[in-house]
Amino acid sequence: MISKFQDLKNKNVIVTGGSGFIGKQICTAFLSQGSNVYVFDLKTLKSKKKIKYLKTDITNSQELENNLNFFKKKKIKLDILINNAANDYVPNNKNRNEFKLENFSNNLWDKDLNTGLKGSYLCTKIFGSYMARNKGGVILNVASDLGIIAPNQDLYSKSKFTKPITYSVVKHGLIGLTKYTASYWAKKKIRCNAIAPGGMFNNQSRNFLNKINKIIPLGRMAKKNEYDDLILFLCSEASSYMTGSVVVADGGRTII
Ligand SMILES: NC(=O)c1ccc[n+]([C@@H]2O[C@H](COP(=O)([O-])OP(=O)(O)OC[C@H]3O[C@@H](n4cnc5c(N)ncnc54)[C@H](O)[C@@H]3O)[C@@H](O)[C@H]2O)c1
Repeated sequence: MISKFQDLKNKNVIVTGGSGFIGKQICTAFLSQGSNVYVFDLKTLKSKKKIKYLKTDITNSQELENNLNFFKKKKIKLDILINNAANDYVPNNKNRNEFKLENFSNNLWDKDLNTGLKGSYLCTKIFGSYMARNKGGVILNVASDLGIIAPNQDLYSKSKFTKPITYSVVKHGLIGLTKYTASYWAKKKIRCNAIAPGGMFNNQSRNFLNKINKIIPLGRMAKKNEYDDLILFLCSEASSYMTGSVVVADGGRTII
């Protein structure tokens, strides 16, 4: 693949949740530009040249501090942090009564907010401070179109699924985290932006696809690699005048 964002070559990038569906794709995109990728995830894959998996629970500040010490000891200058990990439940045909607002438990609330918000806040605090003390860097938060609009629960009715309230709260919260961080560290040469991607095609049921395609002006979900260039752009010098932005890439779903 031709390198489109040459300044990303040899940049050191953390991707939280980098072993998941979108995370893997984000890692592939950075590897294609010659970046060095460090994945923080509960699940790890085999580390290879230019990609290292560090088994990490991002809700655990001690584990994050240990990773920071790894960077310091090896004298790795961190350039980019991607806050991507979140609990994103996939609709299936199990009756998820516990996701209904009336039944929602405090435990589930804590679990989802811990991963999606506290984890992103801790990574921002620990690794953003490290970048602020060095020469600056870039933070990118992965929000969602559901950080802009409310979920349409009719999409899930056949699978008896409810999109949990925590998903909306986490994704809206990440946009607040983005704006706060962007303004707080602007003078330290840290830029912080968010993306609000729409749903990605992942062999969802025909019933779900028929419904969701009707409420997306472009008539389809995103393809696997359709966020690559946007993510690389927001992390490269090409977006040097962008900070605190929320870039929506959703096939138009939030405009209607
Ligand atoms: N899939 C989509 O269509 C879509 C659309 C819009 C936004 N998003 C967002 O993109 C991001 C990635 O979604 P995905 O579909 O790849 O989900 P996924 O469930 O496939 O991946 C999430 C990853 O995060 C990891 N993780 C969970 N808790 C963790 C913790 N405490 N510490 C470290 N790692 C942890 C998981 O192990 C997993 O590898 C999420 O923030 C999601 O909300 C996804």
